[in-house]
Amino acid sequence: MPARQASSQLVKMEPMSANKGQSFYVTTPIFYVNDAPHIGHAYTEVAADVLARWHRQRGEQSFLLTGTDEHGEKILRTAAANKVSPQQWADKLVEEAWLPLLETIDIQNQDFIRTTEPRHEKNVQKFLQHLYDTGFIYRGSYEGNYCVGCEEYKTDADLIDGEGAFAGQQVCAIHSKPVEKLQETNYFFKLSEYADKLLAFYEANPKFIQPDSARNEVVSFVRRGLEDLSISRSKEKFDWGIDIPWDDSHITYVWFDALLNYITAIGYGEDEEKFASLWPASVQVVGKDILRFHAVIWPAMLMAAGIEPPKQVFGHGWLLVGGEKMSKSKLTGIAPSQITDTFGSDAFRYYFMKAIAFGQDGSFSWEDLSARYQAELANGLGNLASRSIAMIHRYFGGVLPSAGEFSEDDRKVQQIASDAVSAADQAISDVAIQDALTAIWTLVDELNNYITVQEPWVLAKDEAKRERLATVLNTTAEGLRVLAVLMNSVTPKAAAKLWSALGAGLGSLDAQLLGDAGRWGQLPAGATLAELEPLFPRIETDATEAK
Ligand code: ME8
Ligand code: MG
Repeated sequence: MPARQASSQLVKMEPMSANKGQSFYVTTPIFYVNDAPHIGHAYTEVAADVLARWHRQRGEQSFLLTGTDEHGEKILRTAAANKVSPQQWADKLVEEAWLPLLETIDIQNQDFIRTTEPRHEKNVQKFLQHLYDTGFIYRGSYEGNYCVGCEEYKTDADLIDGEGAFAGQQVCAIHSKPVEKLQETNYFFKLSEYADKLLAFYEANPKFIQPDSARNEVVSFVRRGLEDLSISRSKEKFDWGIDIPWDDSHITYVWFDALLNYITAIGYGEDEEKFASLWPASVQVVGKDILRFHAVIWPAMLMAAGIEPPKQVFGHGWLLVGGEKMSKSKLTGIAPSQITDTFGSDAFRYYFMKAIAFGQDGSFSWEDLSARYQAELANGLGNLASRSIAMIHRYFGGVLPSAGEFSEDDRKVQQIASDAVSAADQAISDVAIQDALTAIWTLVDELNNYITVQEPWVLAKDEAKRERLATVLNTTAEGLRVLAVLMNSVTPKAAAKLWSALGAGLGSLDAQLLGDAGRWGQLPAGATLAELEPLFPRIETDATEAK
């Protein structure tokens, strides 16, 4: 399949119904195009996509933004090393790696922004000019240690002793590479004036930074005081960036440029109506490596411009390899397709959301992935669906039987289903995706248990128990309906298969509102069910062991 253009990436929003007027705007970081994505980037994308899909299923106007960060020294150096212009390099990486990633892991984003697009560059200049005119930017000089990997000046506290080739030198704690001493006359943003304002803002908005560990770290960082921020680089050094509008001998510091994508993408500076309909963002999902940019510099920039900060910045943990952050620069990255080629995109999405508490670090392992695929997806959910639907075909010719009188066991299933819907929905509001899946699995487990206890294959042997058999299979089918709605955000392909086997007469799966999902008895009795395609096919063991 050819890589999709940024514009054809648009997914039309369903007309709003239930929570009319509610908008849910969620963002991912925009990723550097110095290299192709690994599963760390895919992890962030999946989490944001699960949140976006879930809110859409609530009936909200849900908007997921992602994109690429294309300016700065890091990209310029990579392009030079590959003997192409930085624009050519960025075009190639976006086309061949970053847009295809969205297909690979089934991301349903509403927009994809590139920082080299005119809609971004123009409005970054507008923002800068505004801050300059209102006195928040001044000219000054600076000397410091710059990490090109981070595109950031480092304080002494950010440096550690180097090892190996860098023994005896101070290196960046994130990239394990030496920093570069820079001395420049630049433009500065008066960030130092914002320390107290930010602390007051964090205090008044306790959920602004999540999880709490991230919040505490940021609060103590800001309490130590803030320095003004250099927001330009002289073109004498390098010139891959957005011109400073009042001084074309300088370009904009790449982070100042990049952070603004969250508002330029939704119309800041040119489509005020669209901007007002989505801003402030509901959740900005980032890795904890870039939390300070998002929880300190970004809200201060917005405050200076008189724009409300986002409602929440969520700093998730790192995927670790051998105890260290998986990274492009350390060549420990695993390509997402290595996983999806064998397990599929649904399993990728499920695995990372279920295995790691969102907000904490987690180690990826092929063994854990295989084990969970087998136990939770194939045997847990997949087998439940296939045997339930197969029994309706076998005993009722594929026609959904109507339920008779409910027993206590049946009512227990109904209660667990409705509790699972509300617990999962609450967990998503708290950005606790793992907890949402745990809540959903109470229903998977209960239905498996219910089938074991009810023994429909025994009931089927006795004509006198025909009505009881009908009630049991109607109950499992209803339980599967609830699961299809609940899993549509996490495993959309499996949910769609389940829905097309079950969903006769209820309209599209995307149109099923979460708020109504727990209401029992929605599947029309008498409807003919289709055959179910396998949700999580068996995986040859050598395919998983070969990794
Ligand atoms: O920082 N575990 O881009 P970047 C989990 N362009 N997540 C990981 C990860 C890991 N091992 N490695 C990367 C930049 N990520 C800037 C952002 S935003 C205005 C500009 C994810 O390509 C995680 O989301 O270095 C992390 O924050 C991001 O990739 C960094 O991507
Ligand atoms: Mg990085």
